[in-house]
Amino acid sequence: WPVYAPYVHAINRLKKERGAVILAHNYQTPEIFHCVADIVGDSLQLAREATLVDSEIIVQCGVHFMAETSKLLNPDKTVLIPDMRAGCSLSESITGADVRLLKERYPGVPVVTYVNTSADVKAETDICCTSSNAVAVVESFDSDTVLCIPDEFLALNVAKQTDKKILTWKGHCEVHERFTAEELLAYKEADPSIEIIGHPECHPDVIAVCDYAGSTSGMINYVKDQRPSRVLLVTECSMASNIESEVEGVEFVKPCNLCPHMKRITLPKILDSLLTMSEEVTIDPMIADRARLAVERMINLKN
Ligand code: 13P
Ligand code: SF4
Repeated sequence: WPVYAPYVHAINRLKKERGAVILAHNYQTPEIFHCVADIVGDSLQLAREATLVDSEIIVQCGVHFMAETSKLLNPDKTVLIPDMRAGCSLSESITGADVRLLKERYPGVPVVTYVNTSADVKAETDICCTSSNAVAVVESFDSDTVLCIPDEFLALNVAKQTDKKILTWKGHCEVHERFTAEELLAYKEADPSIEIIGHPECHPDVIAVCDYAGSTSGMINYVKDQRPSRVLLVTECSMASNIESEVEGVEFVKPCNLCPHMKRITLPKILDSLLTMSEEVTIDPMIADRARLAVERMINLKN
């Protein structure tokens, strides 16, 4: 990748000079994932790793809610995001005021909020969850009914794995909602040996035709462990690109969808971020303490 080399070199040099650490989500492009990231992972792993960081500066290569989670867990450190506009359709789907109304409507019902939300929303919630621990988080309550927001499809997928009544919201991931069971079945019909692996943000009809469903790291581990000869990752496109060099002999079949928010993070922007020490993530102290509690409860939950 000669075109990336000067950026990779400059970022890694500056990262050392500044004493910064780069946390990158599994959806970052291969040149970020393999060449400049210090730690890669799914949302839960990145949140857990954020509690262990020694460096005073964290550069979050991912979307804004991920950087906010790192900042919540490291209030005294500098958390930078290379493009402040890197959002998320799930995070955009709900506000703190919406959650307050839900709590009025369903008094006493525990509120589980997906980490793909703003700190404002997390502050109104009992505990956070990610795609890798959502069932365990929901099961951690005695209550028969649990609010699991804002991802409707994640909630419906969780509801299939628990006896609890799950109430939800109408938020969707704009990347995963585009996959349909019909298109996947057509691939399966053409080649029954193909393994289909999906993310729980997909519609339950899509998950029903998958051989495995799990978080982004769950999917990566499945491919590394099972070594299917042909596999279709029902998720963001960089996932296949990031692991194909590590799983020789596995053929990755399209389709995949790009997350435009994740793709806002690029090598030139990471370099600029380290050069100018921007853009810095800040959280209103009035909401930070309550939001942190929800994230910490999730991290401390044994599962
Ligand atoms: P994971 O927690 O599985 O990494 O998912 C994050 C995400 O944004 C998926 O769209
Ligand atoms: Fe949000 Fe979907 Fe992008 Fe993940 S893939 S960051 S859920 S829009």
